[in-house]
Amino acid sequence: MEKAEKYRLLERQVAALLEGETDVIAKMANVAAVLHETFGFWWTGFYRVAPCHSGLAPESSELVLGPFQGPVACMHIPFGKGVCGTAWKRNETVVVPDVEEFPGHIACSSASKSEIVVPVHGPSGSVTAVLDIDSDRLATFDAVDQVWLERIVTLL
Ligand code: SME
Repeated sequence: MEKAEKYRLLERQVAALLEGETDVIAKMANVAAVLHETFGFWWTGFYRVAPCHSGLAPESSELVLGPFQGPVACMHIPFGKGVCGTAWKRNETVVVPDVEEFPGHIACSSASKSEIVVPVHGPSGSVTAVLDIDSDRLATFDAVDQVWLERIVTLL
């Protein structure tokens, strides 16, 4: 089955799965699971925008690890750092065909070769989380993934 067709079916499945659910963590957990299982990605999960608890800058925020599928991952990512922090800062999807070519990439696993990070928006339009997907192969993600994943995260 073509990738776009898989996404088309998956979008319907996600919409049905999330219908009536209001808890965002529960929704993220099942979205991560269904994406991970459908495509066999290396790592699939969310980082949520949350207040920094360092005490140094109480007004600032960072990304904190949320629901995911795959190996253990780093738990805190600063604004503008790594692929995730960059997608948050730019407020746009970032597609990385080769993580070694991305300056500042945060290597949670040496097996990760390519990556896509999609911002998730809250009701006010600000970024509330990012969806991060890693592949153990180069150049896994393209415009097809971007378009469908951007649609799927709006269901959250
Ligand atoms: N590689 C990401 C960090 C998160 S892990 O891939 C799960 C980044 O550079 O932001």
